[in-house]
Amino acid sequence: MNTLLLSPTDENIRQAAEILKNGGLVAMPTETVYGLAADALNGEAVKKIFEAKGRPSDNPLIVHISGIEQMRPLVKDIPLKAEILAEKFWPGPLTIILPKSDVIPDEVCAGLDTVAIRFPSHITARKLISLSGPLAAPSANLSGSPSPTTFQHVICDMDGRIDAILDGGDSEVGVESTVITLASDIPCILRPGGITAEQLREAIGEVTIADAVTKPLAEGEKAASPGMKYKHYAPAAEVLLIDAEGETFSSYVNSHAENGDAVLCYKEDLGRLKLPCMCIGRSDDYSTQAHRLFSALREMDNIGVKRVYAHCPKKEGVGLAVYNRIIRAAAFKVINPLAGEVEL
Ligand code: TXA
Ligand code: MG
Repeated sequence: MNTLLLSPTDENIRQAAEILKNGGLVAMPTETVYGLAADALNGEAVKKIFEAKGRPSDNPLIVHISGIEQMRPLVKDIPLKAEILAEKFWPGPLTIILPKSDVIPDEVCAGLDTVAIRFPSHITARKLISLSGPLAAPSANLSGSPSPTTFQHVICDMDGRIDAILDGGDSEVGVESTVITLASDIPCILRPGGITAEQLREAIGEVTIADAVTKPLAEGEKAASPGMKYKHYAPAAEVLLIDAEGETFSSYVNSHAENGDAVLCYKEDLGRLKLPCMCIGRSDDYSTQAHRLFSALREMDNIGVKRVYAHCPKKEGVGLAVYNRIIRAAAFKVINPLAGEVEL
């Protein structure tokens, strides 16, 4: 298939909307990561997303809208807490899960009785959705590899597999949206992202964080968010998460380094390390870390790194989202130089 590469002019956005209305697939920029979109109300079109990505069909998709009022027909009911979150955080990097209405095809929700909804803030996504109607869209990467945060990343994974890719520059947030379910008794974060637990609690009170955010599922445990059960975000290189501060971190890495190893680290680590470094920001600058993380993981593969020592991020604010992605890239293997290797 010939994939059209489109700059985000109004005419090209109209063309992309036509492709979507005819059941095609278009990758679109959002402020979090690029998404691979299909008409959310067309089950046959949505099926093609799973084929293009190689995504397991039991992993449901997020429906993207371009106005709060578009949510109403997609869900059974809009509780007060959903209204508050929508008013406060939309458009933006928050996905809200609610019991679904009958208009949502089974393909979107992978047979669940809930639907995930998000109103992105990226101007190109908003223009596109306002012309096409609601769009089902997972991240536009091949299943299992890091989510795409640049036009180039999407071309790398999707050229020849989909109808068109819209260029919207680099994704600002850099990690996928925060996913919160309001379908449980107490609102629960299923995936951390650019909107933090602290911000959500300030808006609606008690909010829990699913265990699967920081730990692997126990044998036989059912995932509240099916996406959390898959190894994700992983580059081809092996990733080892090193849980240590300052000198303990650098001396562990320096003494274990072999040819083909590199480090994913913070600004404070530079100068202490004897092997190639990829810095994702200061250790307390979580937004910059999120913005750079997926690009850095892809870059490691491009330069042929075999093993990555990743400096463990702090688990607060947007740092929790960075931790959640790195721990999956590392397949939950954490090394504490003082305590040895730990399987979480
Ligand atoms: O920022 C984002 O959310 C990006 C951009 C493109 O909007 N999209 C994205 O989609 O990350 P995806 O498909 O890669 O991740 C969606 C996550 C998965 O972990 C999926 O299991 C979960 O949301 N999810 C979707 N619908 C759900 C539902 N009804 N119940 C529980 N989890 C759901
Ligand atoms: Mg994804």
